[in-house]
Amino acid sequence: MSFLVNETRLQADIETLATFVNPELPGYTRRPFTPEYTRSRRWLQEQMEAAGLNTKYDAAANLIGVRDGKNSKLQPIMIGSHTDSVVGGGRFDGIIGVLGAIEIARQLEEQGIELEHPLHIVDFTAEEASEFGISTIGSRGMVGALHESYLERKNDDGLTLADGLTRQGGNPDQLNEMALTKGDIALYLELHIEQGPVLAEKGYELGAVTGIVGIERYRITVTGQPNHAGTTPMNMRQDALTAASESILAIESIANESYEVPVVGTVGRIFSEPNAANIVPGEVRLEIGLRSIRKSALQSMVQKMNDFVQGVLKKRDVDVTIEKISESEPVAVSPEILNNIYDACMKVGKTKKLPSGAGHDANQLASIAPVGMIFVPSKDGKSHCPEEWTDYELVAKGVAALGNALLSFDRQLLK
Ligand code: GLV
Ligand code: MN
Ligand code: MN
Repeated sequence: MSFLVNETRLQADIETLATFVNPELPGYTRRPFTPEYTRSRRWLQEQMEAAGLNTKYDAAANLIGVRDGKNSKLQPIMIGSHTDSVVGGGRFDGIIGVLGAIEIARQLEEQGIELEHPLHIVDFTAEEASEFGISTIGSRGMVGALHESYLERKNDDGLTLADGLTRQGGNPDQLNEMALTKGDIALYLELHIEQGPVLAEKGYELGAVTGIVGIERYRITVTGQPNHAGTTPMNMRQDALTAASESILAIESIANESYEVPVVGTVGRIFSEPNAANIVPGEVRLEIGLRSIRKSALQSMVQKMNDFVQGVLKKRDVDVTIEKISESEPVAVSPEILNNIYDACMKVGKTKKLPSGAGHDANQLASIAPVGMIFVPSKDGKSHCPEEWTDYELVAKGVAALGNALLSFDRQLLK
């Protein structure tokens, strides 16, 4: 028998969360450290409490709901995801992992199921790429990886990350002291939308995740000389933007080369100064994300990027610097966990084992605990856009699979 899920209730929750958005921004935008995020978390906390969970915020402002297990000496099993969105995002990314976990807590309560292990349900703070140059802020903080230099970074409003966390209910001074280390939790599980086309295209209902890409983000700063765009002859320019454009195209070519495993490379942010029609651009900053399931492939892309930037751009009489602004390690899900998750999914629907090209809070949790993830299909492979969609029936199947996995691990981890 499979874990029961109330699909109507789950749908209502997803629809309610989708109302806590910034109406002035496109799609379903709920950025962290904003009033709409704070309001949505107040609502989430109420849902957690109503599901019988005791709630708290940790030092990294993660919202945690706790359900006791039969044996308080056992390390907790943790399930969760995030509810912040990208600008112009959708209604499912991260959200189904948190609301699905709350639905599981309700079912445990309603059916009087007592787990052996304590259960921690987490809405991680600020998972998406942020103005602070990092993603997975809350889960980094939970595992002691929010370094001082990150906390001092400021967003465009001059807010430091440390102040943002405090505003959101965290306590940055306590981050080190409260950080979880190896052995503090028994297992971390996360349900998420695939955010790619594989499951939907091939007619699968569920995915058992084999591994998660590592992400390295870099900032390339090209400094030329701002000058009059009418009077400066073409051969006397130090145009930062044309020089930066070469590296944008180079990164595309580098990511198109063949490696031992698939890689991707994206220049997703560009800042051009002074950004005026009649001035030769003087400084350009590019933010680059490189991803792969294998560290060595990432390293060879980085090497090629460095070689290109040092070689070609210097010829253009501009200065170029490259700095790493964040990294998360690739994760391999252990065969035992993967097989257990696969079995839990197969009780619910047709399941494919596949890797994740998106980063997740599970990347951070993997530094201290075994992790596993379940995917549900994304219609037309769309995500990080308002069209992001997964039929509610499939979301409910994902939650049922997560419930199955939770009950099975709760027993197996005792052995
Ligand atoms: C998270 O959505 C990511 O950028 O992979
Ligand atoms: Mn996500
Ligand atoms: Mn996302």
